[in-house]
Amino acid sequence: MRHFLQETDVALPELGGLFARARDFKRNRGQPGAAPLAGQTWAMIFSKASTRTRVSFEVAIRELGGNALFLNQHDIQLGRGESIEDTARVMSRFVHGLIVRTFDHRDVERLAAAGTVPVINGLTDFLHPCQIYSDALALAERWTSGPDLPAALRGRKIAFFGDTACNMANSWILGANHFGMKIALAGPAGFARGAEIQALLARSGHAGAYQFTTDPYEAARGADVVYTDVWVSMGKEAEGGARARTLAPYAVTAKLFAAAKPDALFMHCLPAHPGEEVAPEVLANPRSIIFDQAENRLHMQKAILALLADAARRP
Ligand code: CP
Repeated sequence: MRHFLQETDVALPELGGLFARARDFKRNRGQPGAAPLAGQTWAMIFSKASTRTRVSFEVAIRELGGNALFLNQHDIQLGRGESIEDTARVMSRFVHGLIVRTFDHRDVERLAAAGTVPVINGLTDFLHPCQIYSDALALAERWTSGPDLPAALRGRKIAFFGDTACNMANSWILGANHFGMKIALAGPAGFARGAEIQALLARSGHAGAYQFTTDPYEAARGADVVYTDVWVSMGKEAEGGARARTLAPYAVTAKLFAAAKPDALFMHCLPAHPGEEVAPEVLANPRSIIFDQAENRLHMQKAILALLADAARRP
């Protein structure tokens, strides 16, 4: 069974087709077309709050002809201790696919291993691959009008600032390596990436292919993309004040944004905290593409859903 749990779950030769399909979904939205999820129900099991992921998946599934079933973990017995494996086995008898947002990345891997339907990672504490693919589409759209969208990403540099140990940083390390981009991360020394992401990169054939620095201006130099995320991820609210003091030197200010290439793009997966990890004027800059990223969640996730549904139908 095919799943989308991490960035490398779409093979390099498939990237062009996936990106082109996402762009077609975007261009042809509202037109009558194929319904690759016709007759299917996809369940969304979410243990964390969400605006973009929840709404974009629900709309995507419906527009592809399927039914979306949203389940808070407390709506089902999983929240009362039923095992992940039994949940996967039972849900596989009812639905055609699962989209899961949870804390521990191993939980989505266990669901995928125990069930018999495709599983999509809608965010874990370790990775957020749907966001990275949607972001990559937004970048490729800016950099090419040609047919080979992923080719436009190759050789470009992304600089990630702030909490360089968060799921978005992990996912961009893996995604940048997969897409052939360069990545630099700037954060406090204690936020340098650890063994888990090194092991994941090694398994994916990309050991150590990223730069970490404590100097934000060094990371910004030559960057095509300036990226940041909130300093306090979901589940880490108690650490808020201390994290804000530690991460303050890595806020994306207008001065730091200006240290990147003159045509650099600003990105943030949202929700943002203006005045904390990013200055309001950077969010509002004409080179900020934060709402293109958000919109592309819909189009790219349609392409991912269609890819997995096609694979699941194959004998
Ligand atoms: N970027 C993102 O995943 O947004 P939500 O938390 O609103 O889904």
